[in-house]
Amino acid sequence: VIGILGGGLIGQSWASLFLAHGAEVVIVDPDPGVEDQMAAFLTSAWPNLRALGLATDEDIPTIKVSTDMADLADVDWVQENAPDRIGVKRDLIAQLEQVIGPDAVIASSSSSLMPSDIQPGACHPGRILVAHPMNPPHMVPMVELVAGAATEPGVMDRAEAFYHRFNRVPIRVKKEVRGHLANRLTAALYREAVHMVAEGIADVGDIDKAIAAGPGMRWALMGPHLIYHLGGGAGGYAGYLEHLGPTQEARWQELGHPVLDEALKAKLVAGLETELRDMDPDTLRERRDAALVALAGIKRDYGF
Ligand SMILES: NC(=O)c1ccc[n+]([C@@H]2O[C@H](COP(=O)([O-])OP(=O)(O)OC[C@H]3O[C@@H](n4cnc5c(N)ncnc54)[C@H](O)[C@@H]3O)[C@@H](O)[C@H]2O)c1
Repeated sequence: VIGILGGGLIGQSWASLFLAHGAEVVIVDPDPGVEDQMAAFLTSAWPNLRALGLATDEDIPTIKVSTDMADLADVDWVQENAPDRIGVKRDLIAQLEQVIGPDAVIASSSSSLMPSDIQPGACHPGRILVAHPMNPPHMVPMVELVAGAATEPGVMDRAEAFYHRFNRVPIRVKKEVRGHLANRLTAALYREAVHMVAEGIADVGDIDKAIAAGPGMRWALMGPHLIYHLGGGAGGYAGYLEHLGPTQEARWQELGHPVLDEALKAKLVAGLETELRDMDPDTLRERRDAALVALAGIKRDYGF
């Protein structure tokens, strides 16, 4: 049985993924509205999960949604997705440990907290790790696994096997750093995207278009090291670093450090509104999900 502690955006998505693979899932969230939200989420996610080949049942299985932590008593795995505040997570884990068995693993979806931040005060800190997905975790397969100072090595092995079982792509991050791995990479890009708006180098919509029509085309297939290996031609990565490494270093010196003050935030939001003027967010979300399904198939077909 898999427990989902915190059934918001990320919790509902994880729950759908686990349910699609035939697991028994229990969601606990203090908000009684989560039951209806979960039903609506499943209704829209199920066709995509089937198209991805993850769900085989035509009918959506039942899922238990509760406001009572005691309903997690029988779980052997907890995916924790409560608000990303250290006090909330520590209190929750203290309550959770009163209920679950000693062998149950607690995997936190936290984007910003490190497992060593979450572990202090736990009775069994060795079973706590961070397993951080990208939104929406039922459609984006990466999950980064981070051990804290107290995490037992066997728990990391169990985590890797667990996420493989649900067709995820687990990545082990070898050191705890803020933002783990994926969000540090996205933060590096986003920082410059914001800086360029602040400096008036390009509009919000054009920056987004440049990524989606440019480097983003390749990033769905491979990461920066492999891309620059191909960019090195016959010389490969070593040739690239020799030839173009200095130009990268020159650019790194000039990357911006924007401050998100009120004026810049307003400029970003106004730019986004202009970009979205012909598209409503629901349509955008539907198209994203349909394209992610198709992309997963293309990547599979071409061996990426
Ligand atoms: N949103 C993202 O893109 C994203 C991506 C990856 C990871 N995460 C991580 O996932 C976690 C959840 O983020 P989210 O975006 O789903 O937030 P959210 O606000 O959508 O959901 C949080 C849920 O936790 C519930 N909650 C509040 N107090 C609780 C408690 N004491 N016990 C149980 N549940 C409680 C809320 O009712 C809510 O349903 C965070 O740690 C976040 O860092 C978010």
